[in-house]
Amino acid sequence: MSEKMSTHQAQEDQRNEDILIYLNGEIVPKAEAKVSVYDSGFMLGDGVWEGLRLYNGTWAFVGEHLDRLFEAAKAIDLDIGKSRDEVMQAILDTQAANNMTTDAHARLMVTRGVKTRPFQHPSLSQQGPTFTIIMEHSRPNLPRPIRLATVPHLRGLPMTQDPKLNSHSKLNCILACIAAEKAGADEGLMLDVNGFVNTTNACNFFIVRKGEVWTSTGDYCMNGITRQKVIDLCRANDIPVFERNYSLVDTYGADEAFLTGTFGAQTPVGEIDGRQIGDGQMGPMTERIRGLYKDLIAQECA
Ligand SMILES: Cc1ncc(COP(=O)(O)O)c(C=O)c1O
Repeated sequence: MSEKMSTHQAQEDQRNEDILIYLNGEIVPKAEAKVSVYDSGFMLGDGVWEGLRLYNGTWAFVGEHLDRLFEAAKAIDLDIGKSRDEVMQAILDTQAANNMTTDAHARLMVTRGVKTRPFQHPSLSQQGPTFTIIMEHSRPNLPRPIRLATVPHLRGLPMTQDPKLNSHSKLNCILACIAAEKAGADEGLMLDVNGFVNTTNACNFFIVRKGEVWTSTGDYCMNGITRQKVIDLCRANDIPVFERNYSLVDTYGADEAFLTGTFGAQTPVGEIDGRQIGDGQMGPMTERIRGLYKDLIAQECA
């Protein structure tokens, strides 16, 4: 069996030992970036987050990322305590402090803040939100296509912790990932409540069949920004693309499969539940879409 791997694997970069972290209006060394054990994010997973990537001096699709962050905060009734411009300034200040110009990844996290007592009720968070940005030097580094295993953990209905929310608590996804690893795979392929193939525990999922690109309806999965860019690119380039229900039978029989996410852009999938997908390597459609996405990033981040 080959070594353990994850879709968020990056090249080792020693500079990440000395990065500076944004924490509640201050920029502090990594070792000093600490939050209270009373923080609602630590205690309860009560917060939202967003992942962004820096290419050639520009944070790609930052407008969409900020929209999604503010929408998620509103959904959980969390006041970020900053305007969009202030959030953007915090990103730029952290970038400048770290002297980063390209190939960086930022994780913005906002929690309901420090609680007065160690209990669940949101009214116990009385000190305002905790806002932090971890910004790392980051170049994705995958030595081989990803292996997936279907797991018993479902993408639930929207009334049970809507799977569209980028919530701090990722336990359902983490359990899916653990189950996949125990099955000898890298990441978990998750079904929806009707048994249709939906998404993985950390990325959106696509298959390619006979020149057509298929992904889930978009219900039950993260409304991925990279997912939407891939759909838009297919439409703009006359590649037939469908958001539809499909099953594991369609998936095992696909010519290609790939994942999407801000970190890794498009990641080829070589194997699902012990079945080789296509020839087990990156297929021509995945390669084409990766090229189109690279061009889009070059335009966006010129
Ligand atoms: C569960 C899940 N799916 C998919 C994605 C990919 O979304 P995006 O393309 O916006 O990075 C993420 C990233 O936050 C995620 O957490």
